[in-house]
Amino acid sequence: MSTILVTGTAGFIGFYVAKSLLGRGLTVIGVDNFNPYYSPELKTARDEILRKNRNFVSANADISDLKSVETIFKDYRPSMVCHLAAQAGVRYSLKNPYTYQKSNVQGFVNLIEQARINSVERFVYASSSSVYGGNTKLPYSEDDRVDTPVSLYAATKRSNELIAYTYTHLWNMRTIGLRFFTVYGPWGRPDMAYWSFMDAMHRRSPIKVFNYGKNQRDFTYIDDVINGVLSALSANDLDQYEIINLGNNKPVGLMDFISTLEDLSGLKAIMEMAPAQPGDAIATYACIDKASAKLGFKPSTQLHEGLKSFVKWYKDNPTIVDAVRNFRLSTAEA
Ligand SMILES: NC(=O)c1ccc[n+]([C@@H]2O[C@H](COP(=O)([O-])OP(=O)(O)OC[C@H]3O[C@@H](n4cnc5c(N)ncnc54)[C@H](O)[C@@H]3O)[C@@H](O)[C@H]2O)c1
Repeated sequence: MSTILVTGTAGFIGFYVAKSLLGRGLTVIGVDNFNPYYSPELKTARDEILRKNRNFVSANADISDLKSVETIFKDYRPSMVCHLAAQAGVRYSLKNPYTYQKSNVQGFVNLIEQARINSVERFVYASSSSVYGGNTKLPYSEDDRVDTPVSLYAATKRSNELIAYTYTHLWNMRTIGLRFFTVYGPWGRPDMAYWSFMDAMHRRSPIKVFNYGKNQRDFTYIDDVINGVLSALSANDLDQYEIINLGNNKPVGLMDFISTLEDLSGLKAIMEMAPAQPGDAIATYACIDKASAKLGFKPSTQLHEGLKSFVKWYKDNPTIVDAVRNFRLSTAEA
């Protein structure tokens, strides 16, 4: 039976990837350091769900620590790696540059080098739509130039793609970089707008609408993304080096997004209009021709349907929601 090393399993996307692989009878070694970028309670709650499966091993380790990474490879001998752990977030990278260097650059090199030494069959990793940075041509295509990252987060994600290229070139390693576009859903990330908007609406607090609501995002529902990631782990018709967009191909304006959330939650948003934030892209919108051809990727979840699942999860999990909110308030005051 195959053993797959998945990093970032206490995180949003890693949790779902691990759950799906376990559901297919595979053994998953999940690595995460449960860091407090957002509520560790939420991360622990995801991890507890995964731990119920006896084919899941939860390794609490920091990927920037080479010794830990070496030990994990030596102990479990994974045949594939799905590397999703990273310091995420564009705004946070303006104030915390070294965290990005440590987790996203040093951590990435530790993972890909150990994957090479241990001859893994393929190395699938998370990149991001943010690599398109200053691009103005839409939709974003994998053939576009991506040498104008507008945040350190984006620069680290682009560096991952370049490092992967070198590993394919030098060692003929199979590397597949997936550029995710604003992934959302139940168990999602509380630092993202859909989560904080929902929570503010629930508490009757104002929400800050950056760029006066003119931003557009290609919201991609988690189930659709997971289908794409699982295909990347198994598809045969792939080149040794691949970069593939996993987006929804349907950009949504922020104001439409807010009114959908209002309809579904039955709550009214109190909006505070604000200028664009440095480092934020105005629009992100994926060309998914390559994902469709190579991975059979076909996002099918409409925003209304996906947000409905998220709103239901939010209402069904008051303990976790409270923990997330309390954590955010306590760290904001610190
Ligand atoms: N969610 C999105 O919309 C989106 C969009 C583009 C790219 N991505 C990328 O997809 C991947 C998964 O994102 P997510 O939304 O699940 O984020 P997440 O923050 O929920 O998950 C990342 C996980 O990695 C862990 N981690 C971070 N640094 C670590 C370290 N040094 N050692 C061990 N574990 C560490 C965190 O504790 C967290 O649980 C990330 O690489 C992210 O950059 C996500």
